[in-house]
Amino acid sequence: MLAGESLPQRSKTEAEIVREYDVEKWGGLLLEAERTGRGFTFAAVDQLNMDGLDHCVSVRGDVMSWEEHAVATRRFRRMVGRELRALMPASALVEFGAGYGGMFFPVARALRKSRPKLIALEFTRSGRELLARISNAEEQPVTVGACDLGAPAITSVAIPDGAVLFTCFSAHYVPVLSQNIIHSLCALRPKAVVHFEPLVHPELQSTTMGLLRHRYLESNDYNRNLLEVLEEAERAGRIRIDSVEANWFGLNPLLPASRIVWSAT
Ligand SMILES: C[S@@+](CC[C@H](N)C(=O)[O-])C[C@H]1O[C@@H](n2cnc3c(N)ncnc32)[C@H](O)[C@@H]1O
Repeated sequence: MLAGESLPQRSKTEAEIVREYDVEKWGGLLLEAERTGRGFTFAAVDQLNMDGLDHCVSVRGDVMSWEEHAVATRRFRRMVGRELRALMPASALVEFGAGYGGMFFPVARALRKSRPKLIALEFTRSGRELLARISNAEEQPVTVGACDLGAPAITSVAIPDGAVLFTCFSAHYVPVLSQNIIHSLCALRPKAVVHFEPLVHPELQSTTMGLLRHRYLESNDYNRNLLEVLEEAERAGRIRIDSVEANWFGLNPLLPASRIVWSAT
């Protein structure tokens, strides 16, 4: 892109998500895993997914580092694992928008001593197929099912009371969230809910980097109101936000995940 050229404006429609994930990313990964015949262990599928990813600029708070993609990915997984382990014991660990389990399986391993029931929910059919095949190959029982964080009923999968629920770079695929996400998640009577998601917070209006990040969210039509929805629910007394850390970690300096932990009141 040339200086002065505007960023292309994208729309995160359902058809676009299906193209990007169901067909191209997870659908392509499924076909490639079948073609290579290396099996469906997490390591084999994860390796295929990382193929060709060399270095990245990772970001933690204000610090950016040029490092191997695999090293940054492992760090992010360890950080998420530590956060969720601190919330154990819990009846279940549930991820909404788990993809092929790139975060779910490493986190499940980090939590194995607490033995929560494992539930991985995903929007796309090919992602669910990968989750089921990996669970089978790893001989690790995982309930796999469908979810849509933007739908009135997020999932029809039975989730036990007292679970730890999380999202990681999936809620940001719903351009505009409503209080429905709060009602649906609270109805599951969770122990805690954690989002590792890009958030629009005051920094995005007040620094040059923040403005670039805001523009990046806009041009990709990523969600820009998750924090607002959560704060509104807190003002209404429905939830308590336990902690927020902006720009917690990311493998793209324009799209770091913030970390936000909340519980139903
Ligand atoms: C960047 S991937 C992240 C996958 C996984 N959470 C991880 O961290 O490895 C985004 C995932 O969000 C899913 N997704 C997109 N729209 C969604 C929606 N409305 N509800 C739930 N998940 C969605 C996609 O299918 C995809 O698997």
